[in-house]
Amino acid sequence: MSQTNPMPIICDCDPGHDDAISLILACSRPELNILAVTTSAGNQTPDKTLNNALRILTLLGRTDLDVAGGTLKPLARDLIIADNVHGESGIDGPTLPKATFSAVSLSAIELIAQKVRQSPQPVILNPTGPLTNIALFLTCYPELHNNVDSIVLMGGAASAGNWTAAAEFNIFVDPEAADIVFKSGIPIVMCGLDVTHQAYILESDIQRIRSISNPVSNCVADLLDFFAQYHKDPKWELKGAPLHDPCTIAWLLQPDLFRTLDCWVGIETKGELTQGMTVVDRYHLSGNPTNAKVLLDVDREGFVELLIGSLERYS
Ligand code: BDR
Ligand code: CA
Repeated sequence: MSQTNPMPIICDCDPGHDDAISLILACSRPELNILAVTTSAGNQTPDKTLNNALRILTLLGRTDLDVAGGTLKPLARDLIIADNVHGESGIDGPTLPKATFSAVSLSAIELIAQKVRQSPQPVILNPTGPLTNIALFLTCYPELHNNVDSIVLMGGAASAGNWTAAAEFNIFVDPEAADIVFKSGIPIVMCGLDVTHQAYILESDIQRIRSISNPVSNCVADLLDFFAQYHKDPKWELKGAPLHDPCTIAWLLQPDLFRTLDCWVGIETKGELTQGMTVVDRYHLSGNPTNAKVLLDVDREGFVELLIGSLERYS
């Protein structure tokens, strides 16, 4: 029987409720070999997102993983945080253990470079926050691009934004970084709001997760209870909380759940009304070469089953 090697991956996140669940999903699966976890400033301030990653990994018993904190602010702008969505801590809701380990003494960018350089297999970069760290890594280490397999990111939208009418939060926070990433020539998978708003979780799904009743599933249920509140506002027209960031991991584990489109995506860095917009050339009108695979639709029930099955793996 042939066995494929686990996919080497670096998770660059800004936990964040959905980042936390994305990490929990990734850590549950033997198909993925997590080389490092790095944190970006985004949903909360950089000190908090780093501490949140350490606390989640402590809960998971993954204190063996190398973790590093990233840049303190976006490349060319002041930091905007999403405490209206994620609360004072960035992951309000569950009671989490204190971190029992520390970040390594490298910066996120240095740790990414070290892991990419050392990997015998090309590495998947998995940013689920603003793209500041990834853009700096790509800029500082051009010689390592050829050992990056792809960048599987949560960000952007082909339709409407969620932070402004035109822009999704992660891209809006650091459009200059996103511009560097989308122009890098490295294959990009963009999990934007088109697909993540379909990957919503119902109250009945949260009950199923709680009934698994292990410490990790209880934490996820508590995370979801808090995260769901913000998304109950009828203006979003959502039936449940959208699990943005875990879509990236679901794509890697089960790509057949998704419908995709290969096309050119540009980042608006100067628009008066459209800063941080991902301009998705759905109909190939620009003549620009394809630089991204954009996820458009997901089988929601299959996605939820994948998540629940993964949570059942914890004891
Ligand atoms: C993205 O912004 C953050 O609030 C979430 O963690 C997700 O990465 C959704 O727009
Ligand atoms: Ca995030």
